[in-house]
Amino acid sequence: MKAVTWHGKRDIRVDTVPDPKIERPTDVIVRITTTGICGSDLHLYETLGPFMGEGDILGHEPMGIVEEVGNGVTEIRPGQRVVIPFNISCGTCFMCGQGLHSQCETTQVREQGMGAALFGYTKLYGQVPGGQAEYLRVPFGNTLPIAVPDGPPDERFVYLSDVLPTAWQAVEYAGIPADGSVVVLGLGPIGDMSVRIARHRGAGQVIGVDLVSERLARARAHGAEPLDLREHQDDLAEVVRGMTGGRGPDAVIDAVGMEAHGSPSVEIAQQVTSALPKSVAATLMQRAGVDRLNALYSAIDIVRRGGTISVVGVYGGMADPLPMMTIFDKQLQVRMGQANVKRWVGDILPLLTDDDPLSTEGFATHTLPLSTAPQACEMFQKKKDGAVKILLQP
Ligand SMILES: NC(=O)c1ccc[n+]([C@@H]2O[C@H](COP(=O)([O-])OP(=O)(O)OC[C@H]3O[C@@H](n4cnc5c(N)ncnc54)[C@H](O)[C@@H]3O)[C@@H](O)[C@H]2O)c1
Ligand SMILES: [Zn+2]
Ligand SMILES: [Zn+2]
Repeated sequence: MKAVTWHGKRDIRVDTVPDPKIERPTDVIVRITTTGICGSDLHLYETLGPFMGEGDILGHEPMGIVEEVGNGVTEIRPGQRVVIPFNISCGTCFMCGQGLHSQCETTQVREQGMGAALFGYTKLYGQVPGGQAEYLRVPFGNTLPIAVPDGPPDERFVYLSDVLPTAWQAVEYAGIPADGSVVVLGLGPIGDMSVRIARHRGAGQVIGVDLVSERLARARAHGAEPLDLREHQDDLAEVVRGMTGGRGPDAVIDAVGMEAHGSPSVEIAQQVTSALPKSVAATLMQRAGVDRLNALYSAIDIVRRGGTISVVGVYGGMADPLPMMTIFDKQLQVRMGQANVKRWVGDILPLLTDDDPLSTEGFATHTLPLSTAPQACEMFQKKKDGAVKILLQP
């Protein structure tokens, strides 16, 4: 089959690789019909390269049709339409029982000291072949796949794999009071969808911050007051306080993560790490890695005293300097983590079969053949041609 594979820093290819097979009785094989490119994939092109292997199959936002099931699978049958969550969770352990599927105790990558395994996402997360491919082997066939109805186009459902539950959790963790205010930092797919969900769930005021014009325009169209970071490099927090009664918003969602615009010295450190031999770089990143913390620093500065910061952007450093005095003195609550995809499906699915209040149809800016993945990744990374969300179709 054809699959999108990693070969080195910014070197993504479409290779012919062996088809996946049923390996355990509860496995299913899914023929992929639509699969997303995620902001998290961009970390693999740059910062997380030391944890990748040549030929690793990328992708963690797939949906498709069940092609084959193992003889222990009773809950799903060939021909059924399914979305596959990005975290690989068993559905039956203690953590899954708590709704903490990204901490699944059956798939935790213990030798790396990490949480649940993920599709297509580095040795840190189990080096499991991903979903930017024609076929995908999915374990836990009775509990992991999300069955979705036939009829509406893939675009309605594909974001259940990541974008929708991730943004839903970001809003949930932000704990915005009824009619309260929230600032969303970063208006990529995750920030954009967080804006829509915050409005849908009753936030009174949503302010969206980014430095890309099309992204600001999309957020405005869905009820956010846009703030262009290019015009407010030095006075962002002050401007936001001015827009929120002088106090700051009840909550801030950081939907940027470790590759934030700004922090030039750390950028150089990250470039040095990505130029080192792999084993050295991996150790260095794990022990001493620092992120570009601009977005998180903004969040700490902007949020009102006693407010909440919900960090949904991915961070990977082990030695990040944080302003503990400010965090403590402002009495902040900070919540974060990989999305527990299955935890939120029951809340979201009814919105997708209904009148689509989050406008998932039309959310993608580009739908392209899988064979164009290298160009599509570059377009997404460089934010060219108005690319905000790209879907690939095998
Ligand atoms: N927690 C999870 O489970 C989970 C799931 C999916 C994605 N993510 C993470 O969420 C983040 C966003 O993902 P995405 O797909 O939207 O990616 P993206 O890269 O398209 O979006 C990031 C946006 O932030 C903007 N930005 C950069 N620096 C900024 C700054 N200092 N202030 C404000 N905005 C800034 C960029 O212009 C861009 O539009 C990534 O870090 C991704 O890894 C986390
Ligand atoms: Zn993702
Ligand atoms: Zn589990």
